[in-house]
Amino acid sequence: MSNFHETIVVLDFGSQYTQLIARRIREAGVFCEIHPYHAKLSKIETSNPQGIILSGGPDSVFDSNSPHPNEEIYSLPIPLLGICYGMQLITQKMGGVVQSSSDRQYGPAVLEIVNKSHLLKGVSPSTQVWMSHGDKIERPPSGFQIVAKAGNVIASVEDQENERYGVQFHPEVAHTKDGTRILNNFLFDVCKCKGDWTVKSLINQSIKKIKVQVGDGRAICGLSGGVDSAVAALLVHRAIGDRLTCVFVDNGLLRENEFENVLHSCDDQLGLNVVGVDAEERFLAKLERVIDPEEKRKRIGEEFIHVFEEIASSSPDSNYLVQGTLYPDVIESVSVKGPSVVIKSHHNVGGLPDDMKLELVEPLRDLFKDEVRKVGKALGIPKSILYRHPFPGPGLAVRILGEVTRERLKILREAYYIVESEIRNANLYEDIWQAFAILLPVKSVGVMGDDRTYENVAAIRIVDSADGMTADWVKLPYEILAQISSRIVNEVPGINRIVYDISSKPPSTIEWE
Ligand code: XMP
Repeated sequence: MSNFHETIVVLDFGSQYTQLIARRIREAGVFCEIHPYHAKLSKIETSNPQGIILSGGPDSVFDSNSPHPNEEIYSLPIPLLGICYGMQLITQKMGGVVQSSSDRQYGPAVLEIVNKSHLLKGVSPSTQVWMSHGDKIERPPSGFQIVAKAGNVIASVEDQENERYGVQFHPEVAHTKDGTRILNNFLFDVCKCKGDWTVKSLINQSIKKIKVQVGDGRAICGLSGGVDSAVAALLVHRAIGDRLTCVFVDNGLLRENEFENVLHSCDDQLGLNVVGVDAEERFLAKLERVIDPEEKRKRIGEEFIHVFEEIASSSPDSNYLVQGTLYPDVIESVSVKGPSVVIKSHHNVGGLPDDMKLELVEPLRDLFKDEVRKVGKALGIPKSILYRHPFPGPGLAVRILGEVTRERLKILREAYYIVESEIRNANLYEDIWQAFAILLPVKSVGVMGDDRTYENVAAIRIVDSADGMTADWVKLPYEILAQISSRIVNEVPGINRIVYDISSKPPSTIEWE
């Protein structure tokens, strides 16, 4: 897919910042692909990269099972940039000396440029960078020059003749003041990129890729009503036209009027052929007496797939399932070395049954939410869909702590409706990432009129985020919080107390389950 464009390949050694590297490069107008660290040379070569970046990672080059790239990449006639662990790999491989350390230096440091550098051209001679490393370089390989230090740590080395560069710090994070300039120097001066990758070219490439994958087959796409599945469906629709059938499942876990609204907007505004499926009974039956959050997610994920498979089997030549999986979903569910600590099984990746008969088509798998919105805008998706807040696949089930029942769903729907209306009334809807209510499995005493009440507590979660990976609670004006609280307690039977969630992600997550 990337042969059509200049591409930078990032080899992922498991850094929490790998996706940020890709994002910065794309922001500079250069297409960027992330490959696992052990990608085959032939796979990398099909991308025809202008440059390769070796990401950071949590390992030490001294560990016996530390990740190493395919040897041949070191001798490719292509510029290489190693970041942190990547720099240590290059150093070790090319004959320099890496010094092992058991403690990690983490946080800001001052970079002092000590020699003329290609990579650091235009960077102020003393500038703040962000460090997060254990091992460090003791002596660079021959042919390499030390170009910057941070205290007594060698912070940047380069072999200009062979276009090999290394930085001990993280140019991709915002705390590295001149980080963008450093990455741009690599892209434009070293790799000679032009920076002509645009949303339009992403759409074209994506459509070509889908055409190759699906051939003359048929695909099914589960819509959620949100921007991700809508954009994924439109891309596939552009590629294979009416051989795509969209399905919108009413799993009984949707918000007020959501089923009707989504069917209407996808049909009318997006021109997609959508089949609505009423599956409320079967989903709620699967959730009876289930309390464990992961168990809820697994059961919902499996039920979704069974519904899709049934639809697929009624149209026997459907063999693909389109999903709007985004990059953040992928990295939280899978690590560089395979399954790692699962934070939550996102139903669109983690919860798929092993015996699934449909092959996945995931055109947004490498994209961040803001990039998806740009693609959606270019595809003509209306603002009302484009800026809808994300809504989890398992729906209200993960916002009802404890057992999911019809009665509790009704209470939560009414509470959610008030939160959303008040946020819209305050003209804040598009400024925040998500605003919703959570129904807690806790009752508290209250007084209404002259009567004692003993009812449910609901929490309100309103967060700001760029991509769902990190988030902070919104410091909403007290008047709006007061209005939300008083309306819910007065208008929603079954809730007599509201609390506001003031936790950030990390260490909390956005959804409560
Ligand atoms: P967490 O709770 O992991 O959520 O901080 C991060 C973002 O992802 C959304 N979310 C989901 N989206 N399927 C989805 O498509 C899911 O299973 C799912 N779970 C969480 C969540 O609403 C937030 O925006």
